[in-house]
Amino acid sequence: MADYDVIIIGAGPGGYVCAIRCAQLGLKTACVEGRETLGGTCLNVGCIPSKALLHASHQLHEAEHNFARMGLKGKSPSVDWKQMQAYKQEVIDTNTKGVEFLFKKNKIDWLKGWGSIPEAGKVKVGDEVHTTRNIIIASGSEASALPGVDIDEKVVVTSTGALELGKIPKKMVVIGAGVIGLELGSVYARLGADVTVVEFLDAITPGMDGDVQKTFQRILKKQGLTFIMGAAVQKTEATKTKAKVHYKLRKDDSEHVLDADVVLLATGRKPYVDGLGLDALGVERSERGQIKVGKDWQTNVPGIYAIGDCIDGPMLAHKAEDEGMAAAEQVAGKHGHVNYGVIPGVIYTWPEVANVGETEEALKKADRAYKVGKFMFMGNGRAKANFAADGFVKIIADKETDRILGAHIIGPGAGDLIHEICVAMEFGASAEDLAMTCHAHPTYSEAVREAALACGSGAIHS
Ligand code: FAD
Ligand code: NAI
Repeated sequence: MADYDVIIIGAGPGGYVCAIRCAQLGLKTACVEGRETLGGTCLNVGCIPSKALLHASHQLHEAEHNFARMGLKGKSPSVDWKQMQAYKQEVIDTNTKGVEFLFKKNKIDWLKGWGSIPEAGKVKVGDEVHTTRNIIIASGSEASALPGVDIDEKVVVTSTGALELGKIPKKMVVIGAGVIGLELGSVYARLGADVTVVEFLDAITPGMDGDVQKTFQRILKKQGLTFIMGAAVQKTEATKTKAKVHYKLRKDDSEHVLDADVVLLATGRKPYVDGLGLDALGVERSERGQIKVGKDWQTNVPGIYAIGDCIDGPMLAHKAEDEGMAAAEQVAGKHGHVNYGVIPGVIYTWPEVANVGETEEALKKADRAYKVGKFMFMGNGRAKANFAADGFVKIIADKETDRILGAHIIGPGAGDLIHEICVAMEFGASAEDLAMTCHAHPTYSEAVREAALACGSGAIHS
C-alpha cells in the first residue's frame, strides 16, 4: 500500500488547486512545497503582490489627475512606500494563509521542503521518502536570464526584486515590453519614477492584436513611459546604487547607454525543474526545457504528470489552475479537459488589456475568412463619466457562420469584460447571440454588445 494516492510537487496555482481537487475526488493527497508559504509564484511574488501595487498606484494616479475635475479638491496624497509595502505583504499573507486553511479543510498533507523523485512512485523530501501511486509536478517557472545582465535583486532586479525595492527609484530602465515590464513599469511611473522601456522587437506585447499594441503603447506614452524599440540590450554595469544599460539599435547597429537607479529584467520566464531528478528518470523535455506531456498531462514516465508553467502553453495562473483540476480528474479515472482555445490573457495596467482566442494576424496567416466588429469606449456613457473612454472592444467572428473566434479589449474593466466573451465562445455562440443579449445601462459591458452588433448590422452608438 502506498502512503498516498497522489503527491503534487509545488503549491502554486497549478499545484494547490490540483491538490484540492484530488482531495475532493477522494484521493489521499500530499503537496510538497519548499517555500515557507503556500501559493507559489503567483501569491508570493507574482499576480497578487503586483496587483496590490497596481491598485495602490492607480489610486494615487486618480487622486493626482481626476479628483479635482470631479470637484474633489485638496492636496494629493503623498506616498508612504513602507506602508505600501506593508499593505502588499498583508494582501500576500491573507491569500497564502487562505490556501493553508483550504489544505487543512481538505485534509491535504503539506510536506514541507524541496522534493525530488528518486524513482516513479516515490517522492523524497528532506530525508524522508514517501510512496505514492501518482506524482504531479507543478514546479512552476523562474525569470529567464539575459547574457551580460547580472541580477543582484537590488539594483538589477527581476520582478521579485522589483516588488520589494528599498525605495522608489528616480530612474528605472525596464528591459522587455511584455506583461511584467509594462505592469511593473506602470507602477513605478505612477509613483513618480522616470521609466524607460527597452524592447527588442518593434511592437510591445508580442503576439497581441496589432490594433491593441498600437493603442496600448500610445496610452502608456501619454502616461509618461518612454519606449526604445528595436533595441538589443548588450549588458548592464552596476554599482551598489546605480546601473548603466548598454544597448544596440537593430536598425543601424548604433550603440547607446542609459543610466538608471534600478534596472528591471523582464524578458520572459522559463520552467523551473531544478533538483527534481528528471534527467535520471528519463522524463522528456522540450528544447525550451518544458516537461513534455500527453493529452492527459502524463509524461513519458507512467504515473508522473506535469502541469502549469513547467509545461507548454501560456504562463498564466488560471491556465495552471485549469490543468490542475483536469489532471486531478485524470488521476481519479475521470475525464479532465482544458479548452486551450479559450484561455483569456489580461494585463492589469490602466486601462486594462484583455484578449481571448484568435487575432486578426493569425487568421490572415491561416487564410481564414473573418469579420471584425469594433466599438470605441468613447461611445460608452459610463466610460466617459469615469474618465476611462480611451480604448475599444474588438470582436472577431467567422465570416460565414458568425461564430465568435476571438476578442481584444483595451479599456476600463477589460479583464472582467473578456469573460462574457469567453463564456460565449465556450458555448460556440455567434456574435449575433451576444448582440441579442440585453446588457444593463450604463455599464462598460455595453461596449461588448456594441462590438458584437458591429459584427452584424452595426453598432448603435458609433
Ligand atoms: P508557481 O506558481 O511558480 O508555483 C510553483 C511552486 O513550486 C513554487 O512555490 C515553488 O517553490 C515550488 N517548487 C518548485 N520546485 C519544487 C520542489 N522541487 N519541491 C518543492 N516545491 C517546489 N499570471 C496570471 O494569470 N495573472 C497575473 O496577474 C500574473 N501576474 C504575474 C506577475 C508576476 C510578477 C509574475 C512573475 C508572474 C505573474 N503571473 C500571472 C504568472 C503566474 O504567477 C504563473 O503563471 C503561475 O504562478 C504558475 O503557477 P504554477 O503552479 O505552475 O507555478
Ligand atoms: P513576456 O514574454 O511577456 O515579455 C518579454 C518581452 O521581452 C517581450 O516583449 C520580448 O520581445 C522582450 N525581450 C526579449 N528579449 C529581449 C532583449 N534581449 N532585449 C529587449 N527585450 C527583449 O515576459 P515577461 O513580461 O517577463 O512575463 C513572463 C511571463 O509571466 C509571461 O509569460 C506572462 O504570461 C506571465 N505574467 C502574466 C501576467 C498577467 O497575466 N497579467 C503578469 C506578469 C507576468
